[in-house]
Amino acid sequence: MKAEFQSYDVCVIGLGYIGLPTASIFATRGLKVFGVDVRADVVEIINGGGLHFHEPDLDVIVRAAVGSGNLRAGTTPVAARTFILAVPTPFSVGPKGEKIPDLSFVEQASRAIAPFVEPGNLVILESTSPVGTTELMRDWLLDERRKLVAAGRLALAGTGEQFLFAHCPERVLPGNMLKELVSNDRIAGGLTPEAGRVAKELYLRFCTGEIFVTDARTAEMAKLTENSFRDVNIAFANELSLICDHLGIDVWELIRLANRHPRVKILQPGPGVGGHCIAVDPWFIVHSAPEVSRLIRTAREVNDAKPHHIVARVRAAAAKLNQPVIACLGLAFKADIDDLRESPAMEITLEIARSGAGEVLAVEPHVTTPPKALVGVERVALVSLDEALRRADIVVLLVNHRQFLAVDRARLAGKIVIDTRGVWR
Ligand SMILES: NC(=O)c1ccc[n+]([C@@H]2O[C@H](COP(=O)([O-])OP(=O)(O)OC[C@H]3O[C@@H](n4cnc5c(N)ncnc54)[C@H](O)[C@@H]3O)[C@@H](O)[C@H]2O)c1
Repeated sequence: MKAEFQSYDVCVIGLGYIGLPTASIFATRGLKVFGVDVRADVVEIINGGGLHFHEPDLDVIVRAAVGSGNLRAGTTPVAARTFILAVPTPFSVGPKGEKIPDLSFVEQASRAIAPFVEPGNLVILESTSPVGTTELMRDWLLDERRKLVAAGRLALAGTGEQFLFAHCPERVLPGNMLKELVSNDRIAGGLTPEAGRVAKELYLRFCTGEIFVTDARTAEMAKLTENSFRDVNIAFANELSLICDHLGIDVWELIRLANRHPRVKILQPGPGVGGHCIAVDPWFIVHSAPEVSRLIRTAREVNDAKPHHIVARVRAAAAKLNQPVIACLGLAFKADIDDLRESPAMEITLEIARSGAGEVLAVEPHVTTPPKALVGVERVALVSLDEALRRADIVVLLVNHRQFLAVDRARLAGKIVIDTRGVWR
């Protein structure tokens, strides 16, 4: 066992959308990688060279990594030179509706690796995290080591100076991960300059983009800033869509024209903002500095309110018909992926079904069995695109999946169409 412990270069904790591609790509670059996930089913699938979620071309990389013997997975960590934490960082909702960062996964992972980390090792937090989390990761790890020493299960607790800690946030776009993982510029934020420098060296094994070394707090804030920037700009477009609905103006035409100004680049409105990044990360800033993050909070509120506006439009249209059939096209949070987390399309579909506005036909080409959220909800069924278009009186386009862009417009004739993405204009 000891020989195996010594042999790993990287131990990745959390084998989801971020951890698995990262572990696999290090492995295909010749590093010995051990991946850890609390889910035994995930570990089994990966050790068999398979995938537990869809991401283009990732299957090829995982198969190659596992096949070469450079990637193995298990449910408990092993010793390695570098540890990378890629566990979830969601938020929980407080008693007054406030969004509170949930760092319990980071704490569990920090404590789980504590017995295996040796002086000189590098511990990287890749999870998107509130400012100060890398310091917390260090504190949890050292606290756990002190407890292990007290229990006689570890010889040396060590000090913060004996280990290297860094935050290296991830910017990849689901659906295009493998390309972006390699080519995106990165930030390596060390708790010490040495930690940042060593982290940079590690990512240079596969990263062709530039890697900028900074401190951990700036790196944490940089990732949150990037997603808040996107959220605020989308909120502007979404607010314009509400104003235009009110004033009887076509928002898509408006934005097309305004964007001809040489210094204006308005984004496209949509049914809301989803996913586990843009819809989550701005709350980490608001939580840390509530008095001075008013614009970021308001943007979140504008984007969170947009699904209700779409539902109101659908209900108004449905009220004019007798027992209408309503097709909701798309459940994923963005185009051409199967990820339903924090998806406004899912929220809208459920809200329409629960409102009793009519029979709801949900279409999601990337999902074969009804998602858990829909199970047990009355008057909603997962059907094919063809069936939905054949039967619907109202068609609500929620996600711009390529299958929907290709729909023959003649099939929409005579139906009420609510195109939340402006792609069928
Ligand atoms: N998915 C993205 O596009 C994306 C992009 C940038 C940043 N991020 C950030 O990366 C982090 C991970 O996101 P993700 O999308 O990969 O999440 P995910 O849910 O797909 O994967 C996380 C994995 O961690 C496992 N896990 C949870 N606790 C664990 C523990 N204590 N030990 C071992 N495994 C554990 C889960 O079982 C799961 O398989 C989050 O902070 C997220 O905000 C995600």
